[in-house]
Amino acid sequence: MALSSHLAKKHEFHPAGAGDLRSPCPVLNALANHGIISRDGRNITANQLKDALKHIGVGIDIRLGLVNSAYAVHDEHSHRGLRNPEQVDDSGIPVLNLDQTGRPHAIEHDVSLSREDRALGDCISPHPGLVEGFLGYPQQDFFTVSHLGRFRKKRYIEQNAKNKVLDFGYRAHIVACAEAALFQGVFGEGVFRRLPVKYAKAVFQEKRLPFNEGWTPRWFALMVPELAMLVLIILYFAS
Ligand code: HEM
Repeated sequence: MALSSHLAKKHEFHPAGAGDLRSPCPVLNALANHGIISRDGRNITANQLKDALKHIGVGIDIRLGLVNSAYAVHDEHSHRGLRNPEQVDDSGIPVLNLDQTGRPHAIEHDVSLSREDRALGDCISPHPGLVEGFLGYPQQDFFTVSHLGRFRKKRYIEQNAKNKVLDFGYRAHIVACAEAALFQGVFGEGVFRRLPVKYAKAVFQEKRLPFNEGWTPRWFALMVPELAMLVLIILYFAS
Protein backbone atom coordinates (compact mmCIF):
# COMPACT_ATOMS: atom_id res chain seq x y z
CA MET A 1 0.00 0.00 0.00
CA ALA A 2 1.36 3.46 -0.92
CA LEU A 3 2.29 5.56 2.10
CA SER A 4 -0.33 8.24 1.36
CA SER A 5 -3.19 5.74 1.11
CA HIS A 6 -1.91 4.05 4.26
CA LEU A 7 -2.05 7.42 6.05
CA ALA A 8 -5.48 8.21 4.58
CA LYS A 9 -6.75 4.88 5.89
CA LYS A 10 -5.13 5.38 9.28
CA HIS A 11 -6.66 8.84 9.54
CA GLU A 12 -10.03 7.88 8.13
CA PHE A 13 -12.95 9.75 9.69
CA HIS A 14 -15.14 7.83 12.14
CA PRO A 15 -17.64 9.70 14.30
CA ALA A 16 -17.22 9.27 18.05
CA GLY A 17 -18.74 6.05 19.38
CA ALA A 18 -20.58 5.45 22.62
CA GLY A 19 -18.17 5.88 25.52
CA ASP A 20 -15.65 8.00 23.59
CA LEU A 21 -14.75 11.21 25.39
CA ARG A 22 -14.97 14.52 23.60
CA SER A 23 -14.13 18.20 24.14
CA PRO A 24 -15.91 21.52 23.75
CA CYS A 25 -13.14 22.24 21.21
CA PRO A 26 -14.33 21.37 17.69
CA VAL A 27 -10.77 20.95 16.40
CA LEU A 28 -9.64 18.52 19.11
CA ASN A 29 -12.79 16.48 18.44
CA ALA A 30 -12.06 16.39 14.71
CA LEU A 31 -8.48 15.28 15.43
CA ALA A 32 -9.84 12.40 17.54
CA ASN A 33 -12.44 11.47 14.92
CA HIS A 34 -9.59 11.07 12.40
CA GLY A 35 -7.45 9.08 14.83
CA ILE A 36 -4.74 11.77 14.80
CA ILE A 37 -5.11 11.69 18.58
CA SER A 38 -6.67 8.70 20.34
CA ARG A 39 -10.11 8.02 18.96
CA ASP A 40 -11.57 7.31 22.39
CA GLY A 41 -10.31 10.66 23.69
CA ARG A 42 -8.46 9.03 26.56
CA ASN A 43 -4.88 9.08 27.84
CA ILE A 44 -3.46 11.52 25.30
CA THR A 45 0.16 12.47 25.97
CA ALA A 46 1.48 15.99 25.42
CA ASN A 47 3.75 14.77 22.62
CA GLN A 48 0.83 13.12 20.82
CA LEU A 49 -1.14 16.37 21.01
CA LYS A 50 1.86 18.43 19.86
CA ASP A 51 2.33 16.08 16.87
CA ALA A 52 -1.37 16.36 16.02
CA LEU A 53 -1.24 20.16 16.08
CA LYS A 54 1.90 20.06 13.93
CA HIS A 55 0.00 17.85 11.49
CA ILE A 56 -2.59 20.61 10.92
CA GLY A 57 -0.04 23.41 10.55
CA VAL A 58 0.23 24.87 14.04
CA GLY A 59 3.75 26.25 14.63
CA ILE A 60 6.10 25.14 17.38
CA ASP A 61 5.69 28.28 19.52
CA ILE A 62 1.88 27.97 19.59
CA ARG A 63 2.07 24.19 20.09
CA LEU A 64 4.33 24.57 23.09
CA GLY A 65 2.23 27.36 24.60
CA LEU A 66 -1.10 25.59 24.17
CA VAL A 67 -0.03 22.10 25.12
CA ASN A 68 2.22 22.98 28.05
CA SER A 69 -0.47 25.12 29.64
CA ALA A 70 -3.12 22.42 29.05
CA TYR A 71 -0.95 19.70 30.64
CA ALA A 72 -0.21 21.69 33.80
CA VAL A 73 -2.00 20.30 36.85
CA HIS A 74 -5.24 22.19 37.37
CA ASP A 75 -5.10 24.95 39.97
CA GLU A 76 -8.47 26.14 41.31
CA HIS A 77 -7.07 29.55 42.27
CA SER A 78 -5.28 30.57 39.09
CA HIS A 79 -7.75 28.55 36.94
CA ARG A 80 -4.76 27.27 34.95
CA GLY A 81 -4.00 23.71 33.83
CA LEU A 82 -6.36 20.85 32.96
CA ARG A 83 -4.72 17.69 34.32
CA ASN A 84 -5.51 16.03 37.63
CA PRO A 85 -2.63 15.57 40.07
CA GLU A 86 -0.73 12.34 39.30
CA GLN A 87 -2.66 11.70 36.09
CA VAL A 88 -0.14 9.57 34.17
CA ASP A 89 -0.21 6.50 31.93
CA ASP A 90 1.36 3.10 32.70
CA SER A 91 4.79 4.44 31.76
CA GLY A 92 4.42 7.42 34.11
CA ILE A 93 3.91 9.92 31.26
CA PRO A 94 1.38 12.72 31.96
CA VAL A 95 -1.88 12.22 30.04
CA LEU A 96 -5.14 14.08 29.55
CA ASN A 97 -8.64 12.99 28.51
CA LEU A 98 -10.58 15.13 26.06
CA ASP A 99 -13.51 15.74 28.41
CA GLN A 100 -11.11 17.41 30.86
CA THR A 101 -10.68 20.30 28.39
CA GLY A 102 -14.25 21.20 29.38
CA ARG A 103 -13.56 21.35 33.09
CA PRO A 104 -15.24 24.33 34.77
CA HIS A 105 -13.15 27.37 35.65
CA ALA A 106 -10.37 26.53 33.21
CA ILE A 107 -10.37 27.17 29.44
CA GLU A 108 -14.07 26.51 28.82
CA HIS A 109 -16.08 29.74 28.89
CA ASP A 110 -19.51 31.22 28.22
CA VAL A 111 -20.42 32.89 24.89
CA SER A 112 -19.06 30.14 22.63
CA LEU A 113 -19.59 30.26 18.91
CA SER A 114 -21.34 26.90 18.87
CA ARG A 115 -21.98 25.76 22.43
CA GLU A 116 -24.58 26.87 24.97
CA ASP A 117 -23.47 28.57 28.20
CA ARG A 118 -22.85 26.22 31.13
CA ALA A 119 -25.76 27.65 33.15
CA LEU A 120 -28.19 27.27 30.25
CA GLY A 121 -27.46 23.82 28.86
CA ASP A 122 -24.78 21.63 27.29
CA CYS A 123 -21.54 23.60 27.07
CA ILE A 124 -19.58 20.65 25.60
CA SER A 125 -21.50 19.46 22.52
CA PRO A 126 -22.33 21.73 19.58
CA HIS A 127 -25.82 23.27 19.66
CA PRO A 128 -27.37 22.68 16.20
CA GLY A 129 -29.13 26.08 16.13
CA LEU A 130 -25.97 27.96 17.12
CA VAL A 131 -23.92 26.08 14.52
CA GLU A 132 -26.50 26.95 11.83
CA GLY A 133 -26.44 30.60 12.90
CA PHE A 134 -22.64 30.65 12.80
CA LEU A 135 -22.37 29.03 9.36
CA GLY A 136 -25.05 31.31 7.90
CA TYR A 137 -23.57 34.49 9.35
CA PRO A 138 -21.28 35.61 6.49
CA GLN A 139 -24.08 35.22 3.86
CA GLN A 140 -21.35 34.32 1.37
CA ASP A 141 -18.94 31.44 0.82
CA PHE A 142 -16.25 32.53 3.26
CA PHE A 143 -15.65 34.20 6.61
CA THR A 144 -13.30 37.15 6.74
CA VAL A 145 -11.49 37.97 10.00
CA SER A 146 -13.99 40.79 10.61
CA HIS A 147 -16.91 38.34 10.28
CA LEU A 148 -15.52 36.25 13.10
CA GLY A 149 -15.05 39.32 15.31
CA ARG A 150 -18.52 40.68 14.56
CA PHE A 151 -20.09 37.29 15.13
CA ARG A 152 -18.39 37.08 18.52
CA LYS A 153 -19.89 40.47 19.41
CA LYS A 154 -23.34 39.29 18.31
CA ARG A 155 -23.01 36.16 20.44
CA TYR A 156 -22.07 38.29 23.46
CA ILE A 157 -25.15 40.51 23.03
CA GLU A 158 -27.39 37.41 22.74
CA GLN A 159 -25.98 35.59 25.75
CA ASN A 160 -25.84 38.74 27.87
CA ALA A 161 -29.57 39.19 27.28
CA LYS A 162 -30.53 35.62 28.13
CA ASN A 163 -28.01 34.40 30.72
CA LYS A 164 -28.60 36.08 34.08
CA VAL A 165 -25.42 34.54 35.49
CA LEU A 166 -23.20 35.15 32.47
CA ASP A 167 -19.54 34.65 33.33
CA PHE A 168 -17.51 36.33 30.59
CA GLY A 169 -14.74 38.62 31.75
CA TYR A 170 -11.95 40.17 29.71
CA ARG A 171 -9.72 37.09 29.99
CA ALA A 172 -12.47 34.87 28.56
CA HIS A 173 -13.12 37.43 25.82
CA ILE A 174 -9.47 37.29 24.75
CA VAL A 175 -9.41 33.48 24.94
CA ALA A 176 -12.56 33.30 22.79
CA CYS A 177 -11.09 35.66 20.19
CA ALA A 178 -7.84 33.66 20.22
CA GLU A 179 -9.78 30.44 19.50
CA ALA A 180 -11.44 32.11 16.52
CA ALA A 181 -8.07 33.46 15.36
CA LEU A 182 -6.45 30.01 15.61
CA PHE A 183 -9.28 28.59 13.56
CA GLN A 184 -8.94 31.29 10.91
CA GLY A 185 -5.16 30.88 10.87
CA VAL A 186 -5.27 27.11 10.42
CA PHE A 187 -8.24 26.73 8.06
CA GLY A 188 -8.25 30.13 6.33
CA GLU A 189 -6.60 30.57 2.94
CA GLY A 190 -4.47 33.19 1.25
CA VAL A 191 -2.91 36.36 2.63
CA PHE A 192 -6.19 37.43 4.25
CA ARG A 193 -6.89 33.97 5.65
CA ARG A 194 -10.38 33.83 4.14
CA LEU A 195 -12.11 30.90 5.74
CA PRO A 196 -14.41 28.90 3.42
CA VAL A 197 -17.77 28.25 5.09
CA LYS A 198 -17.57 24.63 3.85
CA TYR A 199 -14.42 24.12 5.97
CA ALA A 200 -16.12 25.54 9.07
CA LYS A 201 -19.16 23.34 8.33
CA ALA A 202 -17.01 20.19 8.17
CA VAL A 203 -15.37 20.96 11.52
CA PHE A 204 -18.26 22.44 13.52
CA GLN A 205 -21.17 20.45 12.11
CA GLU A 206 -19.65 17.20 10.89
CA LYS A 207 -16.82 17.06 13.44
CA ARG A 208 -14.16 16.22 10.89
CA LEU A 209 -11.24 17.93 9.18
CA PRO A 210 -12.23 19.42 5.80
CA PHE A 211 -9.98 17.18 3.64
CA ASN A 212 -12.90 16.24 1.33
CA GLU A 213 -13.61 19.94 0.76
CA GLY A 214 -10.05 20.49 -0.49
CA TRP A 215 -8.35 21.79 2.67
CA THR A 216 -4.70 20.98 3.05
CA PRO A 217 -2.61 22.05 6.04
CA ARG A 218 -0.66 25.25 5.43
CA TRP A 219 2.87 24.72 4.11
CA PHE A 220 4.37 27.30 6.48
CA ALA A 221 3.17 26.82 10.03
CA LEU A 222 1.05 29.36 11.90
CA MET A 223 3.33 31.13 14.39
CA VAL A 224 2.65 33.55 17.25
CA PRO A 225 3.24 36.85 15.35
CA GLU A 226 0.64 35.99 12.69
CA LEU A 227 -1.75 34.63 15.31
CA ALA A 228 -1.33 37.80 17.39
CA MET A 229 -2.29 39.92 14.37
CA LEU A 230 -5.41 37.84 13.81
CA VAL A 231 -6.34 38.03 17.50
CA LEU A 232 -6.01 41.83 17.49
CA ILE A 233 -8.23 42.21 14.43
CA ILE A 234 -10.87 39.84 15.84
CA LEU A 235 -10.73 41.64 19.22
CA TYR A 236 -11.22 44.96 17.44
CA PHE A 237 -14.40 43.80 15.69
CA ALA A 238 -15.64 41.84 18.71
CA SER A 239 -15.33 44.71 21.19
C1 HEM B 1 -3.91 22.20 23.18
C2 HEM B 1 -4.77 22.50 22.23
C3 HEM B 1 -6.17 22.97 22.45
C4 HEM B 1 -6.93 22.97 23.59
C5 HEM B 1 -6.59 22.43 24.96
C6 HEM B 1 -8.21 23.56 23.24
C7 HEM B 1 -9.26 23.71 24.11
C8 HEM B 1 -10.44 24.34 23.81
C9 HEM B 1 -11.55 24.50 24.70
C10 HEM B 1 -11.59 24.04 26.14
C11 HEM B 1 -12.52 25.16 24.04
C12 HEM B 1 -13.91 25.52 24.55
C13 HEM B 1 -14.09 26.97 24.76
C14 HEM B 1 -15.55 27.31 24.85
O1 HEM B 1 -16.12 27.16 25.94
O2 HEM B 1 -16.13 27.72 23.85
C15 HEM B 1 -12.05 25.41 22.72
C16 HEM B 1 -12.78 26.05 21.76
C17 HEM B 1 -12.33 26.27 20.51
N1 HEM B 1 -11.14 25.83 19.97
FE1 HEM B 1 -9.73 24.76 20.89
N2 HEM B 1 -8.20 23.89 21.91
C18 HEM B 1 -6.97 23.55 21.40
C19 HEM B 1 -6.54 23.72 20.11
C20 HEM B 1 -7.27 24.34 19.13
C21 HEM B 1 -6.80 24.59 17.79
C22 HEM B 1 -5.43 24.17 17.24
C23 HEM B 1 -7.80 25.24 17.13
C24 HEM B 1 -7.88 25.73 15.72
C25 HEM B 1 -7.20 25.24 14.73
C26 HEM B 1 -8.90 25.42 18.07
C27 HEM B 1 -10.09 26.04 17.77
C28 HEM B 1 -11.10 26.26 18.67
C29 HEM B 1 -12.30 27.01 18.36
C30 HEM B 1 -12.65 27.69 17.03
C31 HEM B 1 -13.07 27.02 19.52
C32 HEM B 1 -14.39 27.77 19.74
C33 HEM B 1 -15.57 26.85 19.72
C34 HEM B 1 -16.85 27.61 20.01
O3 HEM B 1 -16.77 28.74 20.48
O4 HEM B 1 -17.93 27.06 19.78
N3 HEM B 1 -8.55 24.84 19.26
N4 HEM B 1 -10.78 24.91 22.58
